[in-house]
Amino acid sequence: MARNILTYFGSTHADFLHADGLRSTGIIIEHLEGQSGDSILEIGFGTGATLVELAHRLQNAKLHGLERSQTMLEIAKKRIKASGFEDQISLHKSSDTTYLFSEDQFDKVYVESVLAIQSDEDLKHILQSVKRWLKPGGLLICNETIWMPHVPSSTIHEINQKCLDQFGIIQSNGSYPYSKDWEKLFQSMHFEIIQSNAIRLETDANFEQHKKSKLFTRKGKIRSKFNRNLQREWKEYERAMNEIIPPGSELMEGWLFKLVNNK
Ligand SMILES: C[S@@+](CC[C@H](N)C(=O)[O-])C[C@H]1O[C@@H](n2cnc3c(N)ncnc32)[C@H](O)[C@@H]1O
Repeated sequence: MARNILTYFGSTHADFLHADGLRSTGIIIEHLEGQSGDSILEIGFGTGATLVELAHRLQNAKLHGLERSQTMLEIAKKRIKASGFEDQISLHKSSDTTYLFSEDQFDKVYVESVLAIQSDEDLKHILQSVKRWLKPGGLLICNETIWMPHVPSSTIHEINQKCLDQFGIIQSNGSYPYSKDWEKLFQSMHFEIIQSNAIRLETDANFEQHKKSKLFTRKGKIRSKFNRNLQREWKEYERAMNEIIPPGSELMEGWLFKLVNNK
């Protein structure tokens, strides 16, 4: 496979790259309970679509994003500029995240499909950083795609290895496969669990995407339609995905964790 699938998604301006797409972003935004003046961080913002929605709703909030991929960072910058929010959102590249922000800087941190695709080491590093950057009593909200309880660890490891080979990322962490494992991990780091449930059980919070951001996504889609290399690349990913996880298999689901940082 030519490159990492996330680089492909970045180059095609793909938005809401997580379980339940735009619907679950609406749910995350509701749970963030944004207040005027809040300082909010998104880790792994992809092409920046959720940050735009927050900036649109919370004009006095200080919004920051941290992202590992250079392609995503560049595309998100373009989306944010095209949507007119470059003065309200600061984007940062994560290399050594340790000293990037100051202790107790944020009221809220959120992540959409980022924690579960980490190695064990990176996952712990991110959570330790979040603990430091979040104020005591600050909120951490996550939407992560995790394994369903009937999926055995042998299947999880096999799928993760194949995804790593074919797409450059794992499907979902195998050391913390099920919701109970994530709860234990969060509790061991002194996050208090306010909510832990499947995203599908949440009340709908659909919204109309910011017009300029939607247009930016559409431009990326049109570009990929007329680009043979991108078309070929997507076909390869699709074929590989159908082989690794046959369509209709129910192995994973989007899970909402709402946590409070106890220090
Ligand atoms: C599945 S995508 C989700 C993107 C975005 N949150 C969304 O829902 O559309 C995961 C994103 O997390 C980023 N990422 C992965 N590991 C990261 C890390 N350790 N620090 C910052 N960003 C990371 C990836 O580059 C990618 O943009």
